[in-house]
Amino acid sequence: MTVKIATAQEIPLIDQDGPYRNDHEMLRACVGPAPVARTPYGTYLALRWRHAETLTNPSLTRQLELETMFLQGISDGPIFEMFANGMLFSNGEAHRRRRGPVAKTFAFKAMEAMRGEIRALAETLVRARLNAGVVDFLDEIAGEIPAAIIARILGVPGDDAPYFSRLVYSSIRGLSPHEPSVRPQIERDLAALNDYVAGLLEARRAAPEEDFLSQFLAATGGEGGLSPVEARVQVAGLILAGSDTTRLAICSTLSQLLQHQDQWAALCADPDGLKKPAAEEGLRYDPAVASVPRVALRNLDLDGFVVPAGSVVALSLIAALRDPEVYEDPDRFDIFRKDRTRWHLAFGAGAHRCLGEALARAELEETIAAIARLAPGTKLVGPPPKLSGLRAVRSIDRMEVAFAQRTISI
Ligand code: HEM
Repeated sequence: MTVKIATAQEIPLIDQDGPYRNDHEMLRACVGPAPVARTPYGTYLALRWRHAETLTNPSLTRQLELETMFLQGISDGPIFEMFANGMLFSNGEAHRRRRGPVAKTFAFKAMEAMRGEIRALAETLVRARLNAGVVDFLDEIAGEIPAAIIARILGVPGDDAPYFSRLVYSSIRGLSPHEPSVRPQIERDLAALNDYVAGLLEARRAAPEEDFLSQFLAATGGEGGLSPVEARVQVAGLILAGSDTTRLAICSTLSQLLQHQDQWAALCADPDGLKKPAAEEGLRYDPAVASVPRVALRNLDLDGFVVPAGSVVALSLIAALRDPEVYEDPDRFDIFRKDRTRWHLAFGAGAHRCLGEALARAELEETIAAIARLAPGTKLVGPPPKLSGLRAVRSIDRMEVAFAQRTISI
């Protein structure tokens, strides 16, 4: 029997402007059972879990480097510097060298040790807003927790935290395609964040302490070590990589829990027992990172559909995390599901797999557990948040809640 090979033109094209309620519905309607889709930008999306390995195999694909900078006409300045020196946008030896010191020091045990602080912060933020009407959950809670916790890990003094947090959320916009008109503001804020990080590093160089930055600096030295710019960029990169991703994961998970009142009631009855499966399902159901893009180094045959060498092809996490071959009834939000995978694809795969997974999980789990414990009567105010985007970190429109100890009518 001969297997028909589909050419690039035969790969279904997606139409994001159709009348779809969300990206999941759009992908299914446009692509059907095909394992890969074409996008209107001339790139490809691989949609199946089982292709994760192919898409992140360094002999078949490579990470994008400066391509997105050149496409946006950026060739210098702080955004360019971030891409040119960061671990995320590098391959091979440069990637290993830049990732090594962070991987060594930003370790699972150290992040697990932050749980107590995360829990205390989440409880303080919720208590201050209990029975106090409408809360801007996106900014005041979900956005505040990752920015405040990374500030504490880096030793940012408490008084500087609001300034630091503002710089973080402004600078983050530089990592994704943005309107050229906002670039000067992003560049000013990213330059200020860089100066701030450089000051923290300088202080630890002069007087090392028993903390993450001092250990990180110790790990960057020696032969094949990092230049001062590379060291600063890896720290700034950590701050940026962990903020809007975790903010979105907290919103997405809480929003689903509140829309499934039976599961929310179960979590409220046993917050510490169920916070992990609840977070696991929230990360799967509507993940924060839509896809991880790569460049195909050769023709990639995905079940008979050929993505041509040289193309940009992204592993679509939103599709793979609802792959019916892996998850039974994948569109059902179910914190009790038994078909969990050994490792969570929401954090990527291969050499660039997320370094902040332990911290992100601790922040997500402790935040939902704190709300379930202190405010079981919490309700969404207005329509649920809308998550959208097929590339990089997804966007979220808004999310408001009312925190209450008992059920309230709103
Ligand atoms: C729920 C929250 C998070 C999600 C869903 C997430 C997801 C991801 C994904 C999918 C990648 C792989 C990108 C690729 O292969 O192209 C990644 C990389 C990365 N993440 Fe996260 N992340 C989260 C939180 C964090 C946090 C809290 C930090 C640190 C504070 C962090 C730091 C990083 C870094 C440094 C990389 C680059 C790794 C490398 O290039 O070797 N992330 N993340």
